[in-house]
Amino acid sequence: MAEQLIIFDTTLRDGEQSPGASMTREEKMRIARQLERMKVDVIEAGFAASSNGDFECVRDIANAIKDSTVCSLARAHEYDINRAAEALKGAASARIHTFIATSPLHMEKKLRMTPDEVFEQACKSVRQARNLVADVEFSTEDGFRSEVDFLCRIIEAVIKEGATTINVPDTVGYGIPELYGEFIRTLRERVPNSDKAIWSVHCHNDLGMAVANSLAGVKVGGARQVECTINGLGERAGNCSLEEVVMAVKTRRDYFDLDVRIDTTQIVPASKLVAQTTGFIVQPNKAVVGANAFAHASGIHQDGVLKARDTYEIMRAEDVGWSANKLVLGKLSGRSAFKQRLSDLGILPDADDELNIAFAKFKELADRKTEIFDEDLIALVNVNTTADAQPAHYKLVKLSQHSAIGEQPHAEVTIIQDGEEKRASAYGNGPVDACLKAIESVVGSGAEMVLYSVNAITGSTEAQGEVTVRLQHSGRIVNGVGADPDILVASAQAYLAALDKLHVAQPARIPAQGE
Ligand code: KIV
Ligand code: ZN
Repeated sequence: MAEQLIIFDTTLRDGEQSPGASMTREEKMRIARQLERMKVDVIEAGFAASSNGDFECVRDIANAIKDSTVCSLARAHEYDINRAAEALKGAASARIHTFIATSPLHMEKKLRMTPDEVFEQACKSVRQARNLVADVEFSTEDGFRSEVDFLCRIIEAVIKEGATTINVPDTVGYGIPELYGEFIRTLRERVPNSDKAIWSVHCHNDLGMAVANSLAGVKVGGARQVECTINGLGERAGNCSLEEVVMAVKTRRDYFDLDVRIDTTQIVPASKLVAQTTGFIVQPNKAVVGANAFAHASGIHQDGVLKARDTYEIMRAEDVGWSANKLVLGKLSGRSAFKQRLSDLGILPDADDELNIAFAKFKELADRKTEIFDEDLIALVNVNTTADAQPAHYKLVKLSQHSAIGEQPHAEVTIIQDGEEKRASAYGNGPVDACLKAIESVVGSGAEMVLYSVNAITGSTEAQGEVTVRLQHSGRIVNGVGADPDILVASAQAYLAALDKLHVAQPARIPAQGE
């Protein structure tokens, strides 16, 4: 029987560290449920000690998820480890993931600690964590740029203290597949008790090699856990992408000879959920989950695929969850058909009031759009329901716009700002510009727009437009997402959603180690 490769998903922790990718508690819960449905082995739900909000997210996910291990990150620090354990109390299977930097650069410049101090802190923290939970992961932050002798010493010691998983991250994406794979192998060969723990890889994508490095860590190094995120979301250029690693190991089982527990048919729904929630859209030519990943445009390819599918296809689109746009519901569909479809898609909200909002939105949409596809339902639940379920500072009430060739576009808006109705109008370079200028003239946020993108949720011009707006204010970056058949409405919603996020208090900067 083949060994198992453990899939550790960190979309909700490392993924969320992408500027603008912050998610609400409801959004994280929805993603956690999708990860469980996909049979991810370990879900890193957050960093419980970083804020009360993160603590509550980890706690709620730990209480809700039954079929995956739920994990919280914790610095190698007493307070963090206690908070992680507290948040994970209700988990069916809990893991504390504690870490400390081990590279000379990080120890000296960031932590201002000597290697001996780092060593002591690591041992103490793993000991403490093991007294609280049975499953403890220890990470050597910036591990790939650390000295092998020091890593061997610290890893041997933490395994003695009871660490059950050892993770050696390439924190800054500096690795090259051969070198990273060899690095992991050397460590496993030199640490005397290396067989007492599972070895894990965690690679960032700064040089575009996160997936290749992770796979080398598995094949050459013997790692049996990969840390990854949906769509490769993560700090800077992102993390190792879950869908690519999983499909590489599955498709090339002849080479890797490893099993993964993942239900691959849930990959595309997970990708869409994360993209729509964060507003980080997936490039069309992205492997596995990009819109073109299975599209054959050239005549020769089409001819080949029609004669024998495997001439140009190494995976089947349906195996990763692609289904043709299906007309699923329409104007006459009732509440139970709607509820059943959301349940089949795995996006049925827990709370009745959320379901009511979603159903009302569905009816509204069905009045304006005759064909409702699965993608529309996903957007409807992801984009519109939670925004309404939460107290919003801003709401769009009315929007009208006029543009004609030779005239400057003009828009009039009415919004409710903190309970008060306000109106404004503005001219702009284009219709969207006029609408957003009108809103800004009421709100006066002073935020700078750093990204505006429109994406058609399904294929035709009848599709809903999904708009992402990214705003920057006082060094902070937030994303807002809106979806509507009218892209001006979607743009206004996205802008207001982003402004709403700027209202949430900025999380405090967390010191690298210590109090
Ligand atoms: O990139 C990194 O080193 C991390 C650790 C906290 C595991 O995310
Ligand atoms: Zn990371």
